[in-house]
Amino acid sequence: MEFDFSLILNSFPLLLRGAGLTLEITALSVGLGLVLGLFLGLGQLSSLAIFRIPAKIYVDVIRGTPLLIQIFIIYFALPAVIGHRIDPFVAAVTACSLNSGAYIAEIFRGGIQSISLGQIRAGLSLGMTYRQTMRYIVLPQAFKRIIPPLGNEFIAMLKDSSLVSVIGFEELTRSGQLIIAETYGTLEIWTCVAILYLVMTLTISQIVSRLEKRFKKSDER
Ligand code: ARG
Repeated sequence: MEFDFSLILNSFPLLLRGAGLTLEITALSVGLGLVLGLFLGLGQLSSLAIFRIPAKIYVDVIRGTPLLIQIFIIYFALPAVIGHRIDPFVAAVTACSLNSGAYIAEIFRGGIQSISLGQIRAGLSLGMTYRQTMRYIVLPQAFKRIIPPLGNEFIAMLKDSSLVSVIGFEELTRSGQLIIAETYGTLEIWTCVAILYLVMTLTISQIVSRLEKRFKKSDER
């Protein structure tokens, strides 16, 4: 079997478009997941059971079921309940955000819990309220520590977003499938798809390590 480069050249614009949509879904999902995750993470740490218990159940249910099934439920099962179709893009971003939120909640919880109790006591003894201590002392320090695991989540989500190809949303994986259906170029196209994912994940890890370094410097000052 020969490797046909012209096939890659011809399909490249379509694959690039798919890669763009993959990045878009990932960025939106992790962005929305960050907001959801912050609330869920704080909820899990709350002393009030009405916040703590639902947050814990949410994280357990989402982490305990496959993202693929969550996509199926949102795209196929939910429309039967609400009575109208959901656009594949909306379904994809909804499923990925709800999923990412659960993972990010754990990242926030870990980050916040890693800040020593002494820091909180110091804030309180300066006359700050609990809220102010969280806002001005704990969260800024926690944010620095959660950059590496958040980078991980971004990379994981970028790859896991390939699962939304099952509902026909034309991100990178689905674009590859469609091109192969017409050209039969399995070797060329899947290799090219893999390389495009790799380029995106390596770029993200570069950006994350730059951010880490920058924060480290600001710590040393
Ligand atoms: N692969 C795992 C699943 O199917 C995790 C998916 C979620 N990934 C993520 N980065 N939030 O459940």
